[in-house]
Amino acid sequence: MTLSTENSFHYRNGEFYCDDVSLASIAERFGTPAYVYSQRTILSNYERLHRTVSHIPGLICYSVKANSHLRILSLLRQAGAGFDVVSGGELARALRIGASPESIVFSGVGKTQDEIDAGIAAGILMFNVESAGELDLIESRARALQKVGRVSIRVNPDVEADTHPYISTGQMIHKFGVPKDEAPELYRLAARSPHLKVQGVACHIGSQILDVEPFLKALDEILIVARNLAAEGINVEVLDLGGGYGITYAAERPLDVELMARGLEERLGKTPLHLVIEPGRALVGNAGALITRVLYVKRNQTKNFIVIDSGMNDLMRPTLYGSYHEIVPARGGTVQRLLADIVGPLCESGDFFARDRDMADVRPGDLLAVLTTGAYGFVLSSNYNTRPRPAEVLVTGTKAELIRDRETVEGLMTGERI
Ligand code: LLP
Repeated sequence: MTLSTENSFHYRNGEFYCDDVSLASIAERFGTPAYVYSQRTILSNYERLHRTVSHIPGLICYSVKANSHLRILSLLRQAGAGFDVVSGGELARALRIGASPESIVFSGVGKTQDEIDAGIAAGILMFNVESAGELDLIESRARALQKVGRVSIRVNPDVEADTHPYISTGQMIHKFGVPKDEAPELYRLAARSPHLKVQGVACHIGSQILDVEPFLKALDEILIVARNLAAEGINVEVLDLGGGYGITYAAERPLDVELMARGLEERLGKTPLHLVIEPGRALVGNAGALITRVLYVKRNQTKNFIVIDSGMNDLMRPTLYGSYHEIVPARGGTVQRLLADIVGPLCESGDFFARDRDMADVRPGDLLAVLTTGAYGFVLSSNYNTRPRPAEVLVTGTKAELIRDRETVEGLMTGERI
């Protein structure tokens, strides 16, 4: 089984729907641009993944960075997920929705003292430690707070993953983790300290990875670390394999999680180790769409441009990674086609959602849906050009609910002093 390619977005009698709500009715009620998420797809993504790995003892820690909206975190908590956080802010979000501290892992290459204090005070499951300096700081803060900090070392497994270079993380050229041969010394230090508890071994090799093999290679590498530690009498309880499960944006075959789960089970079946995984995109990516309205259609000698009311400040992925998102009209039926760049209103040539895209021949006022934007969409948005960020709407069956107000220009100026 692969990660879900079917989702809640579909045409019904020529109208584009999220579950039982037409995107046109959402645009009518809440305006554009707006991010729309399907509760059904988020939960079914989680259930599918959970079912697939459920015979391996462990925890699915949703990677909050993919979409950190409180409602989405809350839905996933109720479904049974734990959380992978990478900042004090994400930790605060997870705690705000009532996540058990025991279900929270704290990753990230640059944790500050305040963030470490917050994690220790909350009693999180573990810090995934990325350097000797960080381990030292966790030790001294745990001592100062008279607590115990639970730690895993994030090992850089030196495994290559076929993905965009900006989101590949598991090789020596990357800033992440601790080299395999340096990890044992850190574990020895941790094991000697009364203020640290050695909890596990962690890794994360990158994001949007479609092949199973690099994950299994990475697991093999961290298993070796765990076995060598056990031979020294340092026993870890958890192996954290990170996230990065690739999904379908265009026609990619998504990661075969069932095949991966079989490989994981083969390796972990006879061990007492618990498995933590940190999927982000695989749980929320295909559950979201960005609704935008066509403002103008313009042409020059060489190109057509569809100018829309949303831009790179709302959705960075095309600009940042050259990534593909399907873009469909909210009202189908037009057979006429147009080859066009779909561009936003910002003053940058990099402000595009698609280039030379074969599109339905849209007109000003028409609505478009930019698909598979539930992950790394809103969370990467900015207020560049003093543009208020979009509204966020959650669809549950026949109901559409505003879960975040559209920002206002007045709001954007709050806190500034003339
Ligand atoms: N765990 C760690 C330690 C991570 O760094 C990440 C993602 C994840 C888990 C979750 O990865 P996922 O399952 O979502 O692939 N902005 C980029 C993606 C950056 C991913 C960063 N780390 C994009 O839009 O593609």
